[in-house]
Amino acid sequence: MSILKVARMGNPVLRRRTPPLEPAEIATPATQRLIDDMFETMREYAGIGLAAPQVHEDLRLFVAGVDDPDGGLPPIVMINPEIEPLGTAIEDDWEGCLSIPDVRGRVPRPTDIRVRALDRHGAPLRMTAQGFAARVIQHETDHLDGVLFLDRMRSFESLTFLQEYERYWDEADGKGG
Ligand code: NI
Repeated sequence: MSILKVARMGNPVLRRRTPPLEPAEIATPATQRLIDDMFETMREYAGIGLAAPQVHEDLRLFVAGVDDPDGGLPPIVMINPEIEPLGTAIEDDWEGCLSIPDVRGRVPRPTDIRVRALDRHGAPLRMTAQGFAARVIQHETDHLDGVLFLDRMRSFESLTFLQEYERYWDEADGKGG
């Protein structure tokens, strides 16, 4: 496996809308290897999700996985994901992004979603997600449409460098450590 180079904000690759993968493409060794490399890259940089455009691949897929008391997410691959909000509840919470290093900001997202996607074998994947897991899935799916979390912020008042986030906001948000 390999650790891949992560594109940073300003790289046009992050602003493209990716085309869906065909089932035949999913099974190829190149795609399967990419998925393994994306997991390795995500873990190397302590990310909780990584979308193909972030590693310079114009493909509609992402990997994610996180332990979180507020709704963790086991390691998962989503290909051609489609998201539908369940209900109207929207919550603001902190997000970061491997393509926007050392910055955090509060982003409003629907708290409950339904997702339809394909898994790494091309099999249909249907699930609902809540809280933090729902947030991660929405953040990563946005990457597949060329959208960054900054685009979703209501205002930039909460835009914060990581050091200041840890100093002033991390404990206040109940997610110390
Ligand atoms: Ni991101």
